[in-house]
Amino acid sequence: MPFTRRAFCTGLAALPLSRPAWAQETPLLTARPATVQLAPEGYPATEVWGYDGLLPGPQIRVPQGSRLSRRLVNGLQVPTSVHWHDIRIDNAMDGVAGLTQDPVPPGGRFDYAFELPDAGTYWYHAHTNSMEQVARGLSGALIVEESTPPDIDRDEVLMLNDWLLEPETGRFAGDFGNPMMRSHAGRLGNLLGINGRYDFSLEARQNERLRLRLINAANARIFMLRLEGMVGWTVALDGMPLAQPEPVSTEIIVAPAQRVDLIVDVTAEAGTPAALLSYADDDSWQALAEVTVTGPKSSAPRAVPAPLPPNPRMDVPGVAEAELREMRMEGGAMRGMASGRFEGQDMDFQKLVQRGQFWALSGQVGRGEAPFARYAQGETARIRWVNDTVFPHAMHLHGMHFRTVAADGSQGPMRDTLLIKPQESAEVAFVADNPGKWLLHCHMLGHAASGMTTWIEVA
Ligand code: C2O
Ligand code: CU
Repeated sequence: MPFTRRAFCTGLAALPLSRPAWAQETPLLTARPATVQLAPEGYPATEVWGYDGLLPGPQIRVPQGSRLSRRLVNGLQVPTSVHWHDIRIDNAMDGVAGLTQDPVPPGGRFDYAFELPDAGTYWYHAHTNSMEQVARGLSGALIVEESTPPDIDRDEVLMLNDWLLEPETGRFAGDFGNPMMRSHAGRLGNLLGINGRYDFSLEARQNERLRLRLINAANARIFMLRLEGMVGWTVALDGMPLAQPEPVSTEIIVAPAQRVDLIVDVTAEAGTPAALLSYADDDSWQALAEVTVTGPKSSAPRAVPAPLPPNPRMDVPGVAEAELREMRMEGGAMRGMASGRFEGQDMDFQKLVQRGQFWALSGQVGRGEAPFARYAQGETARIRWVNDTVFPHAMHLHGMHFRTVAADGSQGPMRDTLLIKPQESAEVAFVADNPGKWLLHCHMLGHAASGMTTWIEVA
């Protein structure tokens, strides 16, 4: 048909009026101040910093294999950035201010967009001055759903946290960089809670099967937990499924940034106690989450749950041949260190303390010019962490997950954060398959800010 003026015009009008791809709306994630009732009723509310003004931030739930995009809007008076804790992500999207991106200034924006190769329980949090920004509330859950979900009645995300508050004012106590706390166990709160509530509770029926996704979003607290009125299995650690569910028979330890996915069956009868108990500083066990058992039984007791489907790339081959590098964890109160290298200069401990630095990783204090190690892309990396301090540390690698390696060479679960007790050591191995500059640090955020941060490069 020949083009007439009329046909041409109609043709134009018939073009879909969709926006070009570059103008598609990216959902916003706004970091901003907000007022939240953290302390019990009767105490003042707390000024927090929250994503979209919420504490915890909005829960993001997406299918495995999809693409996530969020436009960070900085509604704070200070620069910030978002880290998508330990998604195997493009380096440019990792959110580490000063290493993978510039911090986003007040009023600024940054577009994050990336693929989600792995299903599991993840979280996101600020990664600019995180010692303060995470403590003020900048974190949220990121759940990547399996295409075939496990056979459960309910899926609950429990963000464990503690807050250090002044009871009289409801304000966050003290200064976030308190040197006493940074050189000891870190900033520990005086109020424990889940999902922003000190009195978090759930309702359930006997024999109900729940998936509890525990995320430790605290600055420094290691949660030690027990199940009451429930039996459970650990099915995933740090997002990564275990080959076989492991019955919960002892305490469940969740170090800062770690995640533990449990499948639990409620065994308590209606009206009898069930709870997630937490070891308290006064040596007692207190309900962190009360589970109110009501109504008729939900079904007959069930068989042991099936394992979650594995994620891709969970094998770590070639560990025996890989070069072993030792990373010594040094410093801190009651131990100190002879000297360390900070901002390109060797300094004795006293000088480091004057600069607000208390810790070192193999003699290096804080992120230096050169990486701790360089790996060729695809190489198998092997690191032994030796804790030469009197405090536990939760060592975390960005961008890749590692497996623990036992003395006999056998491999343990795949994780991204490992708790190493005082005077102990642990070996891990991973395939350095994700190119870029990746941070490696203690997730006790006050430690990370005072020396316990380094980085590796994969090229
Ligand atoms: Cu949760 Cu450096 O990260
Ligand atoms: Cu530490």
